[in-house]
Amino acid sequence: MSWRATILTLFPGMFPGTLGQSLAGRALEAGLWQCDAVDIRGFAADRHRTVDDTPFGGGAGMVMRPDIVDAAIAASEDERPLVYLTPRGLPLNQARVQRLAEGPGVRLLCGRYEGIDQRVIEARGAEEISVGDYVLSGGELPSMVLLDACVRLLPGVMGAAESATEESFAEGLLEYPHYTRPAEWRGLAVPPVLLSGNHAAIAAWRHAEAERITRLRRPDLWASSAQAATN
Ligand SMILES: C[S@@+](CC[C@H](N)C(=O)[O-])C[C@H]1O[C@@H](n2cnc3c(N)ncnc32)[C@H](O)[C@@H]1O
Repeated sequence: MSWRATILTLFPGMFPGTLGQSLAGRALEAGLWQCDAVDIRGFAADRHRTVDDTPFGGGAGMVMRPDIVDAAIAASEDERPLVYLTPRGLPLNQARVQRLAEGPGVRLLCGRYEGIDQRVIEARGAEEISVGDYVLSGGELPSMVLLDACVRLLPGVMGAAESATEESFAEGLLEYPHYTRPAEWRGLAVPPVLLSGNHAAIAAWRHAEAERITRLRRPDLWASSAQAATN
């Protein structure tokens, strides 16, 4: 049984979307993962297929109803983790992606409007995950971000040429910079060590660059990587 993603959404037609192209798309075609989008509106009970209502306590916008969302979750119930994509969640990181990719798959809950009634999120034990400190109009793009990150780690998806072992976050650091031909472009030369053929010197330069860039751009990552090194 391949890794399976079920996306609960008001816009099932958005899937697989960009995930139907390139690496993830080829893997989908090859059966290395499965993607089913479930229309939450299909669980609405009234004639107008209403899924939202006004927020208790007042305020702008609409909130997705817990009873409708709960029925949609119940229809896809199994052992896979349930994730609600929300800017209020914990930030997605490579460690979480790795663990999700090692499991049987994931069920993703996409909000719209002001979001989903909190009671169903808690009653169903959904994990709340954010893809960044900005607000998008729905959970579909965040779901695609999470899925793309997971799918590329599934066995057989990436070839040796696209190895995940040296990339950003693999060792708690951002990755070193890359260069290719021509060796000189617009008067700009590539760092000479990369042309030296000295593998030990190249590895040392890359490691130093990874450390430098992480310290400069992501002091938070640098602090936790330094902390991990002392434990
Ligand atoms: C307009 S947003 C709701 C924002 C919410 N009122 C807030 O301020 O936190 C609608 C939906 O988009 C999704 N969404 C928006 N930004 C997101 C982010 N940064 N990470 C994950 N999901 C996000 C969530 O599913 C959310 O329920």
